[in-house]
This record gives sequence, C-alpha cells and structure tokens, in this order.
Amino acid sequence: MHNQYELTQHNSFALPAICPAFYQPKTLSELEDIVPHLSSPFYILGEGSNTLFTEQATTTILQPNFKGITVKENDDFVLLSAKCGENWHELVKYCVENNYHGIENLALIPGSVGASPVQNIGAYGTELADVIDHVSWYEFDTKTLKTLDQSACQFAYRDSIFKNSLANKGFIVEVTLRLSKQWQANLTYRGLDTLPVDVSAKEVFQKVIDIRQSKLPAPDKLPNAGSFFKNPVVEIKCFNSLKEQYPDMPAYPQKDGRIKLAAGWLIEKSGLKGLRKGNVGVDKTQALVLVNYGSKDGQDIVQLAKHVQEHVLAKFDIFLQPEVRLLSSKGLIQLTQSK
Ligand code: EPU
Repeated sequence: MHNQYELTQHNSFALPAICPAFYQPKTLSELEDIVPHLSSPFYILGEGSNTLFTEQATTTILQPNFKGITVKENDDFVLLSAKCGENWHELVKYCVENNYHGIENLALIPGSVGASPVQNIGAYGTELADVIDHVSWYEFDTKTLKTLDQSACQFAYRDSIFKNSLANKGFIVEVTLRLSKQWQANLTYRGLDTLPVDVSAKEVFQKVIDIRQSKLPAPDKLPNAGSFFKNPVVEIKCFNSLKEQYPDMPAYPQKDGRIKLAAGWLIEKSGLKGLRKGNVGVDKTQALVLVNYGSKDGQDIVQLAKHVQEHVLAKFDIFLQPEVRLLSSKGLIQLTQSK
C-alpha cells in the first residue's frame, strides 16, 4: 500500500492527481488482507485508459494486478481465462498467434482485461459480449468468488451490470472468453469491408491496428482516453427529422428499432473539431476524442466536455453522455444536462 500516491502513470490523460491510498493486490489472499481496510469512497482502476481525474485529489484507489492466462480447448473452440491485470491488447495478440479466433477486431484497445467487461469494450463490428463465456467476480460482502455468465453480465452498448448494480460491490478477477478454432472473419465494419473474403486473422488484426493508428491519437504521444462520449441512440422520429436536414449523417439502426448516431460527426458539424482551449482540445482527426496537450488539471477537460455538450445540444438537441468515467475526490460524478 502507498499513501499519497501520484497517479500520472496510471491515467492515459496523464493528469498528476494524488490518491490518499493506493492498493495493488496481486493475489486473492493479498486482496482479502486489504478489504477490511478499504474505506469508502474508493475506486477500482484498471490501466486508467477510460477514467478522467477531475480534481488534483482522487478517492482511494484499488488496482488489482492479478496475472495469468489459462486455456482449455477441444476440436472446435477454446475457453480462455485471463486474469484482470493482463493487458487487453497483449491478450488479443496472444490469441491471434495461437489461432484462437474472435477478438482480432478488438486489437489495440488500451486497458486491462479486468476493465474490458465493465464498459463492454467494442470496435469494428465486435464487442466483448459476443465472445464472453463468463466473468469471475469477487464479492466484498461475502468474501466469495461468483461466476456470472454472459446473460448475468447484462451487457449493452458500453454498459454492463459492473457499472450499475454491482459497482464497487466487488471486482472482476478473471474473464473467460469462448473463442473459435475455425476462422471466420467479421468484415462488416466500414474500413474492413474492402479486405478480400479469404483474409487471414493476422491480416484483420493488422488492419484494425492500422485503422486505429490512422484515426486515433496514441495516448503515449498525445494523452487521451479514446472516445470521450458515447454515440447517442435516438428514436426513429428524432432520426428522421435530422436526416431531412442532414442527408449525409452517418446512422446505425439498432435491434430495438432505434438509431445510433455518430457523436464524432455531431461534434464536427458543430464546428468543434480541432478546437483548442488552453492546454486541452478536441482532436483534429477524430472529434470524439478529447486530448490533453499538457494540462495538469482535469477541470480543463471537464470544462471542454461541457462546452462540447452545450454546442451539440444547441445545434442538434442531443445531449452527449460521457463514455469516460469521471472520478472526483468523493467518487464518480456525472455531467448532467442542466435544465
Ligand atoms: N466522424 C466524423 N467526424 C469525426 C469522427 C467521426 O464525421 O471527427 C464520422 C465518421 O466519418 C463515421 C462515423 O462518424 O462516419 C463513425 O466514426 P468511427 O467509425 O471513427 O467510429 P466512432 O463511432 O467515432 C466508435 C467507438 C470507438 C471504436 C470505433 C470503431 C464509441 C463511443 N466509440 O467510434 O471506440 O473504436 O467506433 O468501431 O462507440 C472508444 O470506445 O474509446 C473507442 C475508440
């Protein structure tokens, strides 16, 4: 345990926040020693690639760092279990090298394995929910490990039970994926649809890396947390009236009849792409990403996010919800729409 621990290396916005206590258990028994001392508020942090520290101080931080990968296979599929402290992209690479198929479209997503179910990471036509078999979750109250199968995780777009009713009641110890030994490419997403039908898993993996590197700023060069906002999902009536005004607006029909819009497009059309305010800004290539040019204060990003929300609301009557989690010294906070 460390007191007054500095977190610059633990958040991809590279903000120099300080937490009163920092715990990094590597095993279940180390964790069990810590739990009785954990005082509220506290926050479970992965690699900090989807969290914004909004103040110079945060809550106590618990960063489980269990390692290990185990594999059970038969002729057709593989059950692969990875501990929470493994790096997500390294896991994807390992699977591609071993011909375990299903997550190549999720290459280069920053963050840890333990964080991947929390927001149901997704990209290029695949999301974690498509391949998850179960999650092993440690419950603080009962001090027991529970198994949540795919449906118990209540996955939705960038959402799961771990963000909602189970938030801070325990933490994800291990994620088990059901991967295929038979290769079947998923090339539905724009950008991948130009690949030949007999493309290999390695080629898809590399193509996803190339697309991400061309579109998204690398956090180690220009600190950011990927998409700052979620893509808004609207009713068909709202979509139809916008489509009349903006015939070229990208839109993705959902299974429930609603339509997902592209927040990056809405931000760009609001005239904010490339906007710079002091030491923070809206990325020049992908307007959905807010970037830190050198600010040491998370409030700069908060103020920029509010500015983006206000402009998109004024132009399109759509309120963008952050995808990134905002952590203050008192716990998670929301950026709500002011009436
Ligand atoms: N667009 C613009 N201007 C912009 C950015 C995007 O017009 O500045 C348009 C694009 O031309 C395209 C549409 O918006 O027509 C969608 O853009 P893109 O394919 O880049 O994807 P996205 O909706 O912006 C989502 C995920 C990403 C994921 C990509 C690819 C969310 C919030 N974001 O972004 O995930 O990599 O799709 O699947 O769902 C993340 O969660 O951090 C993340 C990067």
